Amino acid sequence: MTNSEEFKAIIEHEESLCVPYEKVSPADSTHILSWHPLIMHKITEMRKVSTDSTTFRKLAEEVTSLICGEAMQKLETEEYVIETPICKTVGRRISGKKLVVVPILRAGLGMEDAVKMVVPKSRTGHIGLYRDEETLEPHEYFFKAPKGIEEREVFVVDPMLATGGSADAAINLLKKRGCKKINFLCIIAAPQGMDLVQRKHPDVELYIGCLDRGLNKNGYIVPGLGDAGDRIFGTK
Ligand code: PRP
Ligand code: URA
Repeated sequence: MTNSEEFKAIIEHEESLCVPYEKVSPADSTHILSWHPLIMHKITEMRKVSTDSTTFRKLAEEVTSLICGEAMQKLETEEYVIETPICKTVGRRISGKKLVVVPILRAGLGMEDAVKMVVPKSRTGHIGLYRDEETLEPHEYFFKAPKGIEEREVFVVDPMLATGGSADAAINLLKKRGCKKINFLCIIAAPQGMDLVQRKHPDVELYIGCLDRGLNKNGYIVPGLGDAGDRIFGTK
């Protein structure tokens, strides 16, 4: 078999695993980052069934900091004077109210430290959601947000955007609290999740490391990487 025949057979097999879904295009508010060689390289390592939990967590953090690089390009900055060993100069710092990172529990915790590493002074909120394995509906079990979150720019993080139910529920909770500037960062998305967030929340900037082929009949992303929470915490 030549390479191209093997690749074609693999793609056909992936397609056969997916439940049918109409093709969707990214909206202006959606940013798919698979053009980035480092993001794609590291996501590919994460996908491998042979990647252990420690390596998986490290890769999730590395990918998150690369996604942050893209998602935080528009943060406001201001000039101020500093002194280098050579002379005074005018530097820049992030201005305005401190931003808030909101991991969706559990798997979002695997992205939290990477955001805190690039923006150490950010505040943190947590949203606890789990997906019912049968209905795939999200269930809320925890919500704690820092004071004044409604006046701050929010970065929600969750590695997987599958049906989009959890992302939608998390964004609704934040909007109910008055948040106006919301970004959603994920490592892998299915077309269904991207579509739902774009349709219901066109005001949310959506950053996707890689857009995958689809969802299987159990609601898992194909080819995906399996259960992100289990892989991060070694629970299966
Ligand atoms: C996973 C993932 C998302 C959700 C995505 O969490 O981290 O939160 O599923 O699926 P959806 O787009 O169809 O809602 P899960 O519910 O498995 O909980 P966990 O993070 O505690 O493992
Ligand atoms: N949640 C995961 O962790 N993985 C998927 O593929 C879908 C939802």
